[in-house]
Amino acid sequence: MTHESSDEDGEPGDDNTGAHYSSLETDGGVADPDEIALDPWGSSTVSDYRKLFDQFGIERFEEVVDEVPNPHYLMRRGVIFGHRDYRALTDAMHEDEPFAALSGFMPTGDPHIGHKLVFDELIWHQQQGGDVYGLIADLEAHSARGLSWDEIDEHARNYILSLLALGFDPEDGELYRQSTNREVQDLGFELGIEANFSELAAIYDFDGETDVSHMQSVVTQMADILYPQLDEPKPTVIPVGPDQDPHVRLARDLAARVRYFGVTEAYASFETDPAERSLLAYAYETLTDRHPEETIRCSDAATFLENEREPGATDVEATTLDSTITMLKEAGKEPLRPRVRFVDRNATGAAFEALIEAVDGEKRVYGEHIDSFELDREAAEKLAREVETDHGGYGFLPPSSIYHRFMTGLTGGKMSSSIPASHISLLDDPEDGYDKVRAATTGGRETAELQRELGGEANECPVYELYAYLLAGDDDEFAKEVYEECVGGERLCGGCKEQAAELMEAFLEEHQEQREEWADRLDDLDIDLDSDRTR
Ligand code: TRP
Ligand code: SF4
Repeated sequence: MTHESSDEDGEPGDDNTGAHYSSLETDGGVADPDEIALDPWGSSTVSDYRKLFDQFGIERFEEVVDEVPNPHYLMRRGVIFGHRDYRALTDAMHEDEPFAALSGFMPTGDPHIGHKLVFDELIWHQQQGGDVYGLIADLEAHSARGLSWDEIDEHARNYILSLLALGFDPEDGELYRQSTNREVQDLGFELGIEANFSELAAIYDFDGETDVSHMQSVVTQMADILYPQLDEPKPTVIPVGPDQDPHVRLARDLAARVRYFGVTEAYASFETDPAERSLLAYAYETLTDRHPEETIRCSDAATFLENEREPGATDVEATTLDSTITMLKEAGKEPLRPRVRFVDRNATGAAFEALIEAVDGEKRVYGEHIDSFELDREAAEKLAREVETDHGGYGFLPPSSIYHRFMTGLTGGKMSSSIPASHISLLDDPEDGYDKVRAATTGGRETAELQRELGGEANECPVYELYAYLLAGDDDEFAKEVYEECVGGERLCGGCKEQAAELMEAFLEEHQEQREEWADRLDDLDIDLDSDRTR
């Protein structure tokens, strides 16, 4: 059992400074330090968040947090630790452009304080002016987890009530269940055309035994993720745990695959891959530097690259160089000139014709692509999207995501819905909530004396996590005070847990009152919580 904070960052005395406060080190760490499993239907463990950045290409949230207007406390405290493309959202917020947020909940049990993180994230985006969607993944629960429709209805109701009780505005946002959303079903069907079994097998470890409905629930989730953009393309964030990242990546791919046009940069009439393109860019730039007044021809670039051949190059580099030189030679006297290229991917004939018309300035039209010598890349992207949406295409932007840390279970290890003592359900009797916190594992020392001397290990403490993730609410000063008193040895676990337990009890009481209030108004909402399905 290793925690990331203790093995790598373990400068002696480091812990006493409170410097870790702004980025929590707790990580649900039960697993082997090398282990990382992102399995949406398995037990996801993340013992080293750095791997998510290095191996999966998730970006660090701290790099965008300064651009977020009024960041939520989960953002400020590093609970939201990662993202893909969240800048698209912060840009939209600053420029007062439309944006959306959507997340989904599998109704497999009671909503608990881990789900509250996502509820809060959705609500915050709604308060920032976004179009916000909360969905019940009932098809997924039925196919991937085998729940009956009665169980699903009951749990769905509980998720919706908690989301509303925490502040979701159903007039402003949309709540739906997968099984009754016809548009989602239709979109899923279209997206499914772009993905095949081998691809799903590679991403999700599906095999010949995987049932077809489980696969259908995947395309349904793809449709959920893109649903906010059906009216018009807009930046959309999907707040989820990192276990959902495989879904996010696939959705980003599919969003691109259904586009009418791809926009790339090019240097000559022939098609290249990105590696070949960077060679062309290199040749073009070097040669224009050397001969600023002259027209650079493809044959000149071929000769230049021939001379650049390096003896120690890898096979891949050599292959790229060969193919680039061959194409350049074939193009011969054609001038090498930078341009923006629109490639026809799925466009209708009419859309392709319309795009030709719409490209202003010097351009060249080929069978499957159009080259513009005057537009910049951004203007070209915008134009391509406009022509596409005007001609019945989706014009999707790749969806963005934000990822929160998994909460540590109250008993240590992973917080799990199947171990009641490890989590606090939003439906727990407030007194039970109190008792669970009182019984929680801590990062305290063996004796009060040692605690005063060494300080507690707030970064290893599930109770401190409760303060930071929930109990301190928006009050950073309070969270910081708990942290500093703990690591400074002024705070002892008994009193600390008593305070946390009382706060938890009060939170549950208030939350449940609010649920009650909404319970009477549920019938007025659009979402149908009694499915006709019985099997
Ligand atoms: N697969 C998600 C889960 O296991 C639920 C889900 C369905 C979802 N559709 C979604 C999450 C769209 C985010 C966005 O909890
Ligand atoms: Fe955890 Fe509080 Fe004990 Fe510190 S004092 S280890 S925060 S319970």
